[in-house]
Amino acid sequence: MAKYKIAWLPGDGIGIDVMNAARHVLDKLALDAEYIHGDIGWEFWIKEGNALPDRTIQILKNTDAALFGAITSKPKDEAARELLPELQNKGFEYFSPIVKLRQLFNLRTNLRPCKAYPGNPLNYKENIDLVVFRENTEGLYAGVEFHPLPQAVFDVLLANNNKMKSFKDVPLTEIALSTRIMTKTGCTNIVNEAFMYAKKYGYKSVTLVEKPNVLRETGGLMTRCARDVAKNYPGIDLWETNIDAMCMWLVKNPETYGVLVAENMFGDIISDLAAQLVGGLGFASSGNIGDNYAVFEPTHGSAPKYAGMNKVNPLAMLLAAKLMLDYLGEKDKADRLESAVAAVIKEGQTRTYDMGGKNTTMEMAEAVACKL
Ligand code: IPM
Ligand code: MG
Repeated sequence: MAKYKIAWLPGDGIGIDVMNAARHVLDKLALDAEYIHGDIGWEFWIKEGNALPDRTIQILKNTDAALFGAITSKPKDEAARELLPELQNKGFEYFSPIVKLRQLFNLRTNLRPCKAYPGNPLNYKENIDLVVFRENTEGLYAGVEFHPLPQAVFDVLLANNNKMKSFKDVPLTEIALSTRIMTKTGCTNIVNEAFMYAKKYGYKSVTLVEKPNVLRETGGLMTRCARDVAKNYPGIDLWETNIDAMCMWLVKNPETYGVLVAENMFGDIISDLAAQLVGGLGFASSGNIGDNYAVFEPTHGSAPKYAGMNKVNPLAMLLAAKLMLDYLGEKDKADRLESAVAAVIKEGQTRTYDMGGKNTTMEMAEAVACKL
């Protein structure tokens, strides 16, 4: 029996291309794993009204971790129109499978390293080494939303919050509400993960990215939790920043920062920004990590227009595989994989189109495999 069982979730679009690349490299590393394919993605939404079928969830429950490619997500109305005719108007509602997986398996930590590997022609500056810790299950993305606003919800809000008065003459059908729910446990956990990481890898500070001057309650809770956690880590400073200013500072002086921590949506935003500083989404990997399970993915989407063309940069996917190896405790293989990626970037002989080259996805994977 193989040492590990890995759920293999290519998804759709270029997810399939980059997962092929990942398999090539993992095989070269001779990871002792059994890979179990799971259906996930747009195709299953259209055919079954569920982009994340229950049989896939069962596979995840019986594996050590999952590697995930990418999936197409579309807004509610567009998604409904693409359902097979026999499934239309039967109450199927589209949800993002990756967001669902994060919630279902309580993958509360989203780890997103963004490193400027020397030699990458797309680096915005040298010496950028950022790691974003994004809270992964709460906040606006928890999905507690309403449209139209139910009368009962309106009444409760009006009775408890004066500011609701400004909306009292608006018809309920014309109000949409998304709630930003944050808990002390969620905030404390994510900040603690960030500090533990800073301690382990020798970073001198952790930067909280919030907006407590406006989002006084949720932002305030996060800030208080962060200050409490920081007390347990003498020698590592807590820097408190606002999301808007932080976008500016990251563009201005990215080398100044190391570990960043944020709630779900701010983490989503700041991690795309950080990714662009080190070459774009072709270099950005992401680990969704919980207490008992983890799902690793490139941060990029499914880029349908490039699907099946063997064209896109697989390095984000390979770096996601590296994060998975770290998670499994295969440190030696993880380090070898990252060094191989770094060597290929440094040499600059093999480059996909985003890097100004002409090489294919699989040629890039092969170049990395050769360095192993
Ligand atoms: C990400 C993506 C997802 C998110 C989308 C595809 C739901 O943007 O992983 O950052 O917002 O979390
Ligand atoms: Mg995102």
